[in-house]
Amino acid sequence: MSELPGSNLEVLLDAEQIARRVRELAAQISTDYRGRPLRLVGILKGAWVFLADLARHLNLEVTVDFLSIASYGDNSYSSGAVRITKDLDQSIEGLDVLVVEDILDTGRTFHYLEGVLSAHQPNSLKLVTLLDKVSRRLIPVRADYVGFEIPDVFVVGYGLDYHQKYRQLRDVRFLPSVPSV
Ligand code: XMP
Ligand code: MG
Repeated sequence: MSELPGSNLEVLLDAEQIARRVRELAAQISTDYRGRPLRLVGILKGAWVFLADLARHLNLEVTVDFLSIASYGDNSYSSGAVRITKDLDQSIEGLDVLVVEDILDTGRTFHYLEGVLSAHQPNSLKLVTLLDKVSRRLIPVRADYVGFEIPDVFVVGYGLDYHQKYRQLRDVRFLPSVPSV
């Protein structure tokens, strides 16, 4: 069998490191929300792998919904203009909501989502992101829970893609040829 595409790329975070950190995040979140039901809202497509692993380590009553968003323009980085291509299936009014993201970059996507979701009047709204490129922030949004702060490099794997490829990789890897915008 030929090699899995992307398995030659350099590893930034390996599968074990990620699994350990996901368990730590889940323990923290389980403590913080103890006794309260939690609605996880995963942002498609990048967050599906992280959400699946995180949810299975939460010691809480959890329900799951997804939002799918697309950004106009370049499809490696978000251009700033974001639109919803699949809305939530269920109301979040009065619920404790934790948005699950793969990566926080300029902050534009979450800034937009925060506006849209808070208009639905959840009881609380927080963000967990697996990766945070702090140095790229253009809008001062903060995640409540961060898996790893990473440098300004384009990464793929563990849900993250380049032109829809590499999402299935178990590690997070560098894609050296993609320039920052
Ligand atoms: P903003 O800038 O809105 O960006 O915070 C978040 C979105 O930008 C994409 N993005 C990446 N996708 N590898 C990816 O696969 C990366 O290194 C990367 N950096 C930003 C991603 O779609 C994310 O939701
Ligand atoms: Mg993408």
